[in-house]
Amino acid sequence: FGTGHARPRLVFVGEGPGADEDRQGEPFVGRAGELLTRMIGAMTLSRDQVYIANVVKCRPPGNRTPTDREMETCSPFLFRQLAILRPEIIVTLGNPATQTLLATKTGIGQLRGRFHDFPPPGLNRPDLPPARLMPTYHPAYLLRNPNDKGKVWDDLKQVMAAMGIAIPSK
Ligand code: URA
Repeated sequence: FGTGHARPRLVFVGEGPGADEDRQGEPFVGRAGELLTRMIGAMTLSRDQVYIANVVKCRPPGNRTPTDREMETCSPFLFRQLAILRPEIIVTLGNPATQTLLATKTGIGQLRGRFHDFPPPGLNRPDLPPARLMPTYHPAYLLRNPNDKGKVWDDLKQVMAAMGIAIPSK
């Protein structure tokens, strides 16, 4: 259901486990996970300094996108994780995580690149601890569209700046 630091400043939220994650019982350990691990490293952080979770906790058959009903069924577990972890910053990876946590149907292309307030008014969950939420592209999308890596790096640099982490010069 998740992995990482018990008191993280930063939480990454993906979509759901794939075959590798299902086998190993840990989020983001397959090919997309390797890229996420490199993205975290580029931020001069490590996986054990952050927390990594998914919207759905079981693998959708054939790696399909989770249905709205599956996301509604699993999201209370994600909200409870966030309530316990109380991160300063949440990075949502791709549409399902972004749309679930921002309670919107707007696409990632329009939402990424700037911070949003979490919880959003539309979620009607004022009980959840406030955080700043940065949507960005999912690493699986970047494996198919490497030309968009620069946009993700721009988003992650904003996260680093918000956390007071020095941005490497190259
Ligand atoms: N993609 C996700 O969204 N989550 C994982 O855990 C692995 C791949």
